[in-house]
Amino acid sequence: MDHQRRHLLGVEGLAPPAISGFLDLAESYVLLNRSGQTQRDLLRGHTLINLFFEDSTRTRTSFELAGKRLGADVLNMSVATSSVNKGETLLDTAATLNAMQCDLLVVRHDQSGAPSLLAQKVDAAVINAGDGTHEHPTQALLDALTIRRRKGRLEGLTVAICGDILHSRVARSNLHLLTTMGSRVRVVGPPTLIPAEVARLGVTVFHDMAAGLAGADIVMMLRLQRERMTAGLVPSAREYFRFFGLDAAKLAHARPDALVMHPGPMNRGVEIDSAIADDPARSVIREQVEMGVAVRMAVLDTLARGGRNR
Ligand code: NCD
Repeated sequence: MDHQRRHLLGVEGLAPPAISGFLDLAESYVLLNRSGQTQRDLLRGHTLINLFFEDSTRTRTSFELAGKRLGADVLNMSVATSSVNKGETLLDTAATLNAMQCDLLVVRHDQSGAPSLLAQKVDAAVINAGDGTHEHPTQALLDALTIRRRKGRLEGLTVAICGDILHSRVARSNLHLLTTMGSRVRVVGPPTLIPAEVARLGVTVFHDMAAGLAGADIVMMLRLQRERMTAGLVPSAREYFRFFGLDAAKLAHARPDALVMHPGPMNRGVEIDSAIADDPARSVIREQVEMGVAVRMAVLDTLARGGRNR
């Protein structure tokens, strides 16, 4: 089996049948989870290690839950990042993991490309749980599952991804997935937070929320990632909210049945107004978390069986 199929390092390069395969399998896990049949022994005897070099709440716990629901032995390793010998630490860690005979390795790292490097050094199937500003494939899959379940399709929908595109691995994975599946994708944000190369990825760029949200089926908000900013790219939080924060007035430009999404963690009052985030008629933010467990079960199941859905 080739390297690309054994691991899940990104959405870029996944063909539509592979994406649909993950979503279809995840769909069956949503139903099982909802019916209360959460204990399965599909991964009995398999070891899953969560290796997180960066903070996480949702992603780590949902991979843990997904692994446990499939019957795997799950270990959580939180590693403080050493800024001096990151490369060395990573390769040392790889050797340790190989010695532990780990089958599935879930990696989050602040350096883009770290999971790919590990994948070359470990025997386990590697799943990228977010690397720097590069990709976060299971987030894009869970977003797609949430949209597909609510709207019945991905093709032909207008999706506006708003805010800090520059630092967002969530945006990058979603751009690849949604354009591959035939959605019309827009990115909306201040020029300082939209990378120049994004226009080449088949998306339309807007610097104004009213125009960017006009007629949108899906409004996906992103967190302002101040921890990744080396320069002052935005003015004050209050000014950012005024121009780019999602409130009722800005949402009124989208379709009346438009859904609001956010990968979390949210900065309430910065990129999204609490009233919108908590409005069950518009916000599917909690449903995204539920879909996260099902999608991760589907990914673990598929990779543990030694292949991708095609
Ligand atoms: C995102 C991440 O870590 O990339 N969070 C998540 O996984 N749900 C987005 C973020 O940190 O803003």
